Amino acid sequence: MNIPDLIQKKRDGGEHTRAEIEQLVGGFTRGQVPDYQVSAWLMAVYLRGMTPRETADLTLVMAESGDMMDLSTLKNTVDKHSTGGVGDKTSLILAPMLAALGLTVAKMSGRGLAHTGGTIDKLESIPGWSPELADEPFLQQAREVGMALVGQSKDLAPADGLLYALRDVTATVDCVPLIASSIMSKKLASGAHTVILDVKVGAGAFMKTLDDARTLARAMVDIGKHAGRNVRALLTDMETPLGHMAGNSLEVQEALATLRGEGPADLVELCVLLAQEALMAHGVAEGEARERALGVLRDGSALAKFRAFVAAQGGDPTYVDQPEQLDVAPGRADITAHQDGFVTRVDALSVGKAVLVLGGGRELKGERIDPGVGVELVRKPGEAVQAGDVIARIYHRDGRGLERATELLNAGLILGAQQPDVPPIILDRVN
Ligand code: URA
Repeated sequence: MNIPDLIQKKRDGGEHTRAEIEQLVGGFTRGQVPDYQVSAWLMAVYLRGMTPRETADLTLVMAESGDMMDLSTLKNTVDKHSTGGVGDKTSLILAPMLAALGLTVAKMSGRGLAHTGGTIDKLESIPGWSPELADEPFLQQAREVGMALVGQSKDLAPADGLLYALRDVTATVDCVPLIASSIMSKKLASGAHTVILDVKVGAGAFMKTLDDARTLARAMVDIGKHAGRNVRALLTDMETPLGHMAGNSLEVQEALATLRGEGPADLVELCVLLAQEALMAHGVAEGEARERALGVLRDGSALAKFRAFVAAQGGDPTYVDQPEQLDVAPGRADITAHQDGFVTRVDALSVGKAVLVLGGGRELKGERIDPGVGVELVRKPGEAVQAGDVIARIYHRDGRGLERATELLNAGLILGAQQPDVPPIILDRVN
């Protein structure tokens, strides 16, 4: 079929074969199909959707458009993906937990963009730590330490980068088969057999409602099934940031406290549930999986894995034991309660934007960030406050962005007379 016939087929609600998708998307990636035809096809997909089989084939075509990591020499490989949130330092805790549990995490992670943070940026606040590792040392470290984490290579699913750039300018980003295939193409190309997805729901997340998040999770789990991988998803709350800290060094400090067994309840619970899910994917019963996941936080073995991982990638491990030495910006400004009552809402998007304007995030790819700035949520939803109590603390550098960050937090931290119902961290599970 020629390209106009393929566009027409989707426009009229038809189902593509794998060969047709390869012709369109593979051809586009090789520069043989022009932008304007792919844009028209993307809009047809947006309006007509894709069947689960088509979505899986699109994902495989995108995954196979570049390098496919071969992790077959590693045992029990697990990857984790979060659809992005505020204060989400889960990977820093979960990866060493999984390594301590005998699983292998050989993972590619991203940098932050807009109001969401990225694992690589957080780890780079540890002096010396580097996300650059060639393939062989990466595999060797994963084999020996149980965990290795690198930046995303340019050649990982290049079709995704090219398609995303078109989606961004053709109003076709928010389309479940396109989002699911975009995320999963990178996961399939990254090579892990088991993938645990943390699909965030709420103000600070890509998916604002539970129904939309459920549909996305189902699509991603189905892609995994078609591709012969073991994929499980948890739907988790992102109305409120996770834990108390947002900002790079501050989040590393909180992750380390969690690995020492002193983490905030919501963050600990999420990490334990994700680790539990990974163990269950490897045949461990639920109750035992939970005990084992809690155990590696209690006995220090996850912290030891994190220390070994930092050292293996050039980081100074003394920061793991003395996290107060990390660069935290010296400026402080407090947001205080203007009335007695309860914290009813801490809007994750406002907190994420506040970190961004303080200089802790980037608006455009490639911008430098300040690891030391951020926001501490001293009080979280459901907690009682009295007028004058500190509810949030801003860590700023020489006042940069302070006025705007204060406005954002004043608008995003809501107090009320009634104690609110606080949703559980896990909202649903799809597998
Ligand atoms: N994240 C991705 O990687 N791709 C999308 O399309 C949306 C979110």
